[in-house]
Amino acid sequence: MIDDIQKRKREHLEISTSAVAQTGVTGFDSYRFVHNALPEIDFDEIDTSCQMFEKKLNYPFFISSMTGGVIEGKKINRNLMAAAERCGVMMGVGSQRAAIEKPELAELFVDEVRERSFPLLANVGAVQLNYGFGVKEMQKAVDMIGADALILHINSIQEAVQAEGNRNFKGLIVKIGEVVRGVNVPIIIKEVGFGISEEVCDRLYSVGVRYVDVAGWGGTSWSVVEGRRAGGDRSLGDLFGEWGIPTTESVAMCKKVADRSSEKLTIFASGGVRNGVDVAKAIALGADMAGLAAPFAKAAMESEEAVVASIERLGRELKVAMFGVGVKNLFELKKIPLIRLI
Ligand SMILES: Cc1cc2nc3c(=O)[nH]c(=O)nc-3n(C[C@H](O)[C@H](O)[C@H](O)COP(=O)(O)O)c2cc1C
Repeated sequence: MIDDIQKRKREHLEISTSAVAQTGVTGFDSYRFVHNALPEIDFDEIDTSCQMFEKKLNYPFFISSMTGGVIEGKKINRNLMAAAERCGVMMGVGSQRAAIEKPELAELFVDEVRERSFPLLANVGAVQLNYGFGVKEMQKAVDMIGADALILHINSIQEAVQAEGNRNFKGLIVKIGEVVRGVNVPIIIKEVGFGISEEVCDRLYSVGVRYVDVAGWGGTSWSVVEGRRAGGDRSLGDLFGEWGIPTTESVAMCKKVADRSSEKLTIFASGGVRNGVDVAKAIALGADMAGLAAPFAKAAMESEEAVVASIERLGRELKVAMFGVGVKNLFELKKIPLIRLI
């Protein structure tokens, strides 16, 4: 069973980082900023810093959860964590399910950066709450890495396309509420590339969830990835590569919930975010931070330096975008309107 998970993770990594897995439309191209030819600010004074889970970060983008269940995963985690520490960015680890079931695998997730200053996010599939996991196992995932928050990912289409998927999603909302109350860190509910609607976001808010990562359509497609694995149903996978809520739409939907809620709902935008202009647009649309997975996976397979270079490039692009609209911090960027093209 564990060997099956290992094999699956290796196939996931190979296929998800290939061009074929990048499908869909995020919607970022449908929005444009109004260029400000007279910004009246000093570029060198632009501040891209923010705060999340009581830690200060240099950038409002983060390394999204990527699985680390294989030998390559250990190298990837090490490179990502070292780069996150050097650059001051938040990071999520990939699903810890295998390591909870087989504790010796926990080593794959062990934080190499002893004096970590960036927020680290644990990760388990929410559907596991219907397959033997409860509050205790979720707390274990947090304790395993000393996480600042726990991501429960929701991935119904991926599980449905996957030959060996866990498909019983009944009653999860109640169990998610139990995890929110029972685990000692904040819970983030995250899709994996199909987006979160306003109605789902409302239901999540009603059981106490205050952090969502839309992980919308337009980036890595987990339907395509599952369909192309050995023994997978390729045509089913490709068909649902066309399924999902574009990332920008999903952010707008969740923002409606945030706008009418009494308590703060934090929105993370991921799914096809590929450059600093996308990050700026995500923030102007209502997200607090933006996440990227596949681009960082590629860099992390190479080296720590490659991940640092990717982070610095994104940071530079974001800063130029902020200069272009004439804002000197993220608080001001949030208030900048975008033009929607037809
Ligand atoms: C190699 C790889 C492994 C992933 N593993 C996980 C995972 O274990 N848990 C999870 O919640 N999301 C996982 N994801 C999904 C990403 O966190 C993200 O939601 C999705 O890929 C969309 O972002 P992207 O378009 O920037 O890749 C993985 C993505 C990649 C590329």
